[in-house]
Order: sequence, then C-alpha cells, then structure tokens
Amino acid sequence: MNPKSKNTLNHLAIIMDGNGRWAKERKMKRTEGHKEGVKVVREITKWCATNGIKFLSLYAFSTENWTRPKIEVDFLMKLLEQHLKNESKTYDEYDIRFKVIGDTMGFSKKLRNLITSLENSSAKNSTLTQILALNYGSRDEIARAILKMNKNGIPNGISKNDMINLLENSLDTKEIPDVDLLIRTGGEMRLSNFLLYQCAYAELSFSKTLFPDFNIEELKKIIENFKQRNRRFGAI
Ligand code: FPP
Repeated sequence: MNPKSKNTLNHLAIIMDGNGRWAKERKMKRTEGHKEGVKVVREITKWCATNGIKFLSLYAFSTENWTRPKIEVDFLMKLLEQHLKNESKTYDEYDIRFKVIGDTMGFSKKLRNLITSLENSSAKNSTLTQILALNYGSRDEIARAILKMNKNGIPNGISKNDMINLLENSLDTKEIPDVDLLIRTGGEMRLSNFLLYQCAYAELSFSKTLFPDFNIEELKKIIENFKQRNRRFGAI
C-alpha cells in the first residue's frame, strides 16, 4: 500500500452529538436541535456524494437511546419517517444507496417498511452509500452476528482467519469496508458503542462544535488534517 492510498477517505463515520445542548442554549426544546441536525445530515451527505467519499455512516439512534423521554423518542421516529418519505428523490438525484445497520425489529412495521422501501429503491445507486445506524450498538451487533453464526453452524476446526471472515460477513456492515475517519461532534471524547469493530484502525477526530452548527467548512478542515496523518496500521 503506498502512503497516499493509506490516507484515502473511503469510509467516513460521524457521531452526531450536541443537538440537545444546541437547542437548550437557544431556550428551545431538545427536539428542535434534532430537527436542525437533519438539515446538517442532508448537507454532509450531498457533499460526500459529490466529493469522492464512498461510505458515510451516521449514528442516528442507539440501542441506548430508547431510555430518553418518550416524547423525544417519538419525535426522532417521526423525523426519520418524514425523511424516508420525502427524501427518496435526493438519493436518486445524487446516486446514493441507502442502508440501515442496527436491529430494525425494534421499530414499528410502518417504519420498517419505509426503510426497506428506500433501501430497495436506492440499491443500484453507487456513488455513495449512506449508512444510517438505527437501534444500533456495537455490542448488540456483535451478539447478533454470533447468534447468526451459531444458527448457521460454525465449521469444526475453522482457522482464526476464516473465523474473522465469517464474523465480518455476519456483521451488519457485511461488504462495507472499515471506517477510515470517525468524527464525533459535541465535545465528548468517546465512541459510545458505535462501530467498535469497524473502527479498529480508524483515525479519530473530536470536535467541540454542536452537531447543528457543524458545517462543510469544518468537515473539510478535519479531512485535510486526516490526510496529513501517518496511518501505520500496526506497522512501523
Ligand atoms: C445526539 O445528540 C443525537 C442523537 C441521539 C440523535 C441524532 C439524530 C439526528 C441528527 C437526526 C437523524 C435523523 C435523520 C432522519 C437522518 P444529543 O441529543 O445527545 O445532544 P446532547 O448531548 O446535547 O444532549
């Protein structure tokens, strides 16, 4: 691998944090912060589709987010529903494939149908894959993968490398390459159970900007910095 290709940004992942604080600072309801967040999601997605990024993963709803007040959870579900209903044309216009990771069985039938419908209608789009993490947590994903492997049967005496391949093919991110760069907005410096396996060699970037204020200018600066980094993947 030449040094240049090591720094190719193929897969960008974002933990979109700070919506609630953004709203609180403005004496608005937390839900208003999520509404603004969706606008930023749209901008970033379009920018990625037009700037050579192949995979964009967004942490939209974690397995732990169900513990939030019902009114906030319901609002997030409504936002998602509206997005899936109204934005399908954007996916075709920008040649974006839509994919969900996470345990969608936790959602209503209506939402599951909308998810499947957009995944199917955009399946042939290939400029960018937008991966929305919904009812997602890495531990949950890995546990589901092991259950799947167990159900399908693990060959006796399987080698360690074949086991790694089997596990990777059983994860929600099957056929999606590892994360190259993970950005978390909102000032916290943790991974919060997001793509833990897939971030094994990801470069990390933590921004103090609250997600609704995050913009393309800042994204470009972070990517510039990523390109200067010396990714060694365990070698010297
Ligand atoms: C974290 O901010 C944000 C979330 C838990 C939800 C993120 C969801 C969106 C941006 C909307 C995505 C929807 C679509 C349709 C793409 P927080 O609420 O934890 O903020 P805080 O840390 O300031 O409280």
